[in-house]
Amino acid sequence: MDNQRNMTAPGPIGIFDSGYGGLTILHKIREKMPQYDYIYLGDNARAPYGPRSFEIVYRFTLQAVEKLFSMGCHLVILACNTASAKALRSIQQHDLPLIDPARRVLGVIRPTVEAIDGMTRTGHVGVLATSGTVKSQSYALEIHKLYPDITVTSLACPMWVPLIEYGEYENEGADFFIKKYIDAIFAQDNLIDTLILGCTHYPIVADKIKRHLPGGVRLVQQGEHVAESLADYLKRHPDMDSKCTKNGHTQFFTTENEEKFAESASVFLKTEINVKGIELE
Ligand code: DGL
Repeated sequence: MDNQRNMTAPGPIGIFDSGYGGLTILHKIREKMPQYDYIYLGDNARAPYGPRSFEIVYRFTLQAVEKLFSMGCHLVILACNTASAKALRSIQQHDLPLIDPARRVLGVIRPTVEAIDGMTRTGHVGVLATSGTVKSQSYALEIHKLYPDITVTSLACPMWVPLIEYGEYENEGADFFIKKYIDAIFAQDNLIDTLILGCTHYPIVADKIKRHLPGGVRLVQQGEHVAESLADYLKRHPDMDSKCTKNGHTQFFTTENEEKFAESASVFLKTEINVKGIELE
């Protein structure tokens, strides 16, 4: 009886990322919807997910989703492009009907793609992401579903996540690697006028990226679009909205060292936070 009540009681919105990157999404979501409760879960111990295989990313992401469900979340956002690209569809189609058809898992790729409507004048869009997201071709597939005539060029930036995860992104050396990938994508297609940051970590280096962009190129950062889309989703689904508690609290969990997470997360969120360790299996 108690168990059942716990499973159906309203709970926080779960925000999952492989590490710190999802904090850029959480930040924008909380700005837009400060009244909701959130649980942020970073699988820092196993990050980065970008170079990992489909099977591993799917398994790790499913573990995180199940953990967030067991903590009372009815709605989980995969605030990670790699997880959205490689695990979302399987979880939605295969796992959710078995776990609990009333719960929901949403990703970040679709809201980002919806947001570029009308942005490009040249019809050429670039996507910078992890190698996993690029290999999955999820962005190109989603973009072509909505805008069949757009030319999409995707490029993996494998050095960017480690620079961010290891706190090296503010050092001068970081500029070398930022410029390297920006130059590479424009060398592939110099008609790109809209550049999507298809990795939740990349907004952390957005200022450096902007410095190396050709004039007139629009940089698309996901946070506000995901926040907008979530707000819209909850408006359209009052039943799910009623299952989300609203006390303005956020709890943070990491699979790695709590102190290290708290220190880095405070920088990203510009506020002190408390973090608890958690195991996923
Ligand atoms: N947060 C991931 C993403 O958005 C990047 C980090 C990783 O590779 O784990 O793709």
